[in-house]
Amino acid sequence: MNKTNESIIELKKLPYLEKPFCSRGWGHKLHSLCSYQSKLKPGIAYFLANLFGENDDLIFDPFSGIGTIPFELAQKGIKTISLDINPIAYTVTLAKLKKQDKERILKQLEELNKFIKTSELTQQEYNFADDYTKRFYHEKTLREILLSIKFFTKKDDSYSFLKACLLHILHGNRPYALSRTSHNVTPYAPRGDFVYKDLVKNLKDKVERMFEDPLSPDFVEGEVFLGNIMEFSYPKKFDKIITSPPFINSTRFLYNNRIRMWFNGYSYQEQMKQADKYLESKGIDVFNDVLKKFSELLKQDGYCILHLGVVKKIDMGVEISKLGEKLGFKTLAILYENVSGKEKFGIRDQGATHKHQFLIMQKR
Ligand SMILES: C[S@@+](CC[C@H](N)C(=O)[O-])C[C@H]1O[C@@H](n2cnc3c(N)ncnc32)[C@H](O)[C@@H]1O
Repeated sequence: MNKTNESIIELKKLPYLEKPFCSRGWGHKLHSLCSYQSKLKPGIAYFLANLFGENDDLIFDPFSGIGTIPFELAQKGIKTISLDINPIAYTVTLAKLKKQDKERILKQLEELNKFIKTSELTQQEYNFADDYTKRFYHEKTLREILLSIKFFTKKDDSYSFLKACLLHILHGNRPYALSRTSHNVTPYAPRGDFVYKDLVKNLKDKVERMFEDPLSPDFVEGEVFLGNIMEFSYPKKFDKIITSPPFINSTRFLYNNRIRMWFNGYSYQEQMKQADKYLESKGIDVFNDVLKKFSELLKQDGYCILHLGVVKKIDMGVEISKLGEKLGFKTLAILYENVSGKEKFGIRDQGATHKHQFLIMQKR
């Protein structure tokens, strides 16, 4: 029996449901670098990396979100390529997939501190805060956030770690959150008093927390891209694609990222204009083009390992497997996990997902 078939048998036991892997908080501190609505449980990513990742592999995650799968592969010493269309996802994945030096990040923070203390905002920069966003912050905190937006606009990707830490603390219900009481994943209507929160102090605490766990000695940096899978190309072919694609027919994903996207410089109107590029907003047929792309990017006999769901009565695993068979993929397995009642995670419309599943296919 080959290694992939053995791995399928192991995955079928759903080993990530055992303690301690089943906890959302399991694993390296960097998995909590920034909240993200559709983040995969780190325990699942750990088993996908350990069962399917082999040392000489080049593995692609085309819907990398905040890099949960590539990070677990990188910890095992496996080279990864990550892609996501969402700039929040890109920033956070980049921060996790590059080795970071704490002293350098603290210097960047000091630079931000000076900038906040010595810079002014123009009226136009003030106006970037729309009425929706203003409800979340004390005006002094909002001013510091607007100045931080201005600061990061002039910075390159080497500031991604600091930016990712700040993206995380923008809203939530914990003391470190800069907002009034809200939710850490989705900016639900804020409650409570408008209290001033010192941006630099809370950001420093967050940076310190993120350096509590060292990286594995085997850690290998990955390449990270911002872009649309439909337009992506790469000079080498991949051994495997391991990914959790968007669940189809979702209407709330832009709202869920609203404040963090705003921090990235996108007004809500601009965010809405981009909605049709996100696969979440599409029906299942879009996977025909996605699989054609996968076929183009994979080596002959390469594998596709997808984490999917049964969403609003559509069994994504079965439907994608049918599309795959027509395009020359062989379905090796569809494995199910019943998640009824388990996947609330504070998001109302996730109740529509009753089963999660893994689809494993091979390019023939
Ligand atoms: C289920 S999430 C991935 C979650 C990820 N595994 C994690 O743990 O954070 C799906 C991702 O696909 C991305 N996405 C949607 N449409 C895309 C497209 N056309 N090209 C690339 N990425 C896309 C979304 O931005 C989202 O981050």
